[in-house]
Amino acid sequence: MATIAIIGTGYVGLTTGACFSHLGHDVVCADIDEEKVARLRIGEIPIVEKGLDRLVDEGIRSGTLRFVVGAAEASKSAEFHYLCVPTPQGADGAADLSYLEGAAAEIGPVLPDNSVVVNKSTVPVGSTRVVSRVLGRSDAAVVSNPEFLREGTAVADFLQPDRVVIGSRDAEAAIRVASLYARIAAPVMVTDPVSAETIKYASNAFLASKLSFVNAIATLCEAVGADVNDVVLGMGYDSRIGREFLRPGPGWGGSCFPKDTRALANIAKEAGYDFRFLDEVLRVNDDQFDRTAQKVLDAIDPSMVDTHIAALGLTFKAGTDDLRESPAVEILRRVRSAGIRVKAYDPAVVPDDNRLVEMYPDLDIELASDPYAAAEGASMMTILTEWDEFTGLDFDKMAEIMLGKTIVDARNLLEPSIPRRRGFVYRGVGR
Ligand code: UDX
Repeated sequence: MATIAIIGTGYVGLTTGACFSHLGHDVVCADIDEEKVARLRIGEIPIVEKGLDRLVDEGIRSGTLRFVVGAAEASKSAEFHYLCVPTPQGADGAADLSYLEGAAAEIGPVLPDNSVVVNKSTVPVGSTRVVSRVLGRSDAAVVSNPEFLREGTAVADFLQPDRVVIGSRDAEAAIRVASLYARIAAPVMVTDPVSAETIKYASNAFLASKLSFVNAIATLCEAVGADVNDVVLGMGYDSRIGREFLRPGPGWGGSCFPKDTRALANIAKEAGYDFRFLDEVLRVNDDQFDRTAQKVLDAIDPSMVDTHIAALGLTFKAGTDDLRESPAVEILRRVRSAGIRVKAYDPAVVPDDNRLVEMYPDLDIELASDPYAAAEGASMMTILTEWDEFTGLDFDKMAEIMLGKTIVDARNLLEPSIPRRRGFVYRGVGR
């Protein structure tokens, strides 16, 4: 059992802390937000994440998971120090390291001898060196151990990962970090810090590229009359391509892909390589937002332009309440710019949830408490997030209450024959 300090209790920090405590380690999580810490201490979790509440509860009860205010408080008696602070995108597209440097500066003076400081946040290539310098502790090893957690399945991704990547120049420190994962059955790969940091960015940028490619193929399918669902099924049988991450949609988003893809383009530029491929991946994604918004606008009968549209889904994907860089918001922003009113429903964003207004003050859409309230009197309906509950909608009822009869299903979620049988015109992506 090791003693671990987790600095930052966002998605990554909280999941990492709860999972390490579940694996039998003694974990102290620190945050600067006093109110958040007070709530975490009584097991109140600020995010929607499957299985996380159970692990936090289990850790609090057994005393192996504690929450404190301030990084120094957590670090003063730990052996491992996981930096899980945000690395937001700065004005120039590069990641902003001020939180990371701030955390390192705070824990440097209090670290017990021979501590291991671990970068878990997605940090630009070369950041272990920055952390080392700011820590000012020659006895402390700084190791990169990137996360590959998806929101919504973060706990499962942590406990059953495809791989654990450790970047360290110090073999002993790498072995110590690897031992934290001893109860996890996954390949552990040890490399140098720069390669570990590159693995993280390259993985996310590759997945984003795969999605832009699939969305471009969906556009091609529409142009030539092919069905993208069959096309990706046929492609996915090839083990070199794989089945995962081939679902076309309204464009990809979330707190990682857009930020990390832009950051990697920036890292490359600064290193003297013009990674134009990534610029194009980002541009294809923007085009996908434009194209989806246009599909929505085209579906509105000209006699109904003064009527609202019904938008189902606001989060950047299903299974999370996260609205950051949400494709749904991107589409609705464009629809709003065309002067169309929007009533939206999302199971994770209830009408009195003011996060949407705080994050997107200019969006100006109305929130509904259920899909039917959004659809009542609507000129059309668009599905923007792939929530399971939308597959069970009662289209007989929808046909009665909606004014227009077109559905733009930007996630290919519905079986087209179901709304069509009720007289709807159905438009999916790439089919
Ligand atoms: C991602 C990475 O998957 C994870 O490894 C990394 O550590 C953090 O970033 P996450 O942001 O939670 O995780 O979302 P992910 O499930 O990867 O989806 C990203 C976006 O791609 C979403 O907008 C999603 O809707 C979209 N997507 C995903 C598709 O459009 N089609 C797919 O087949 C898969």
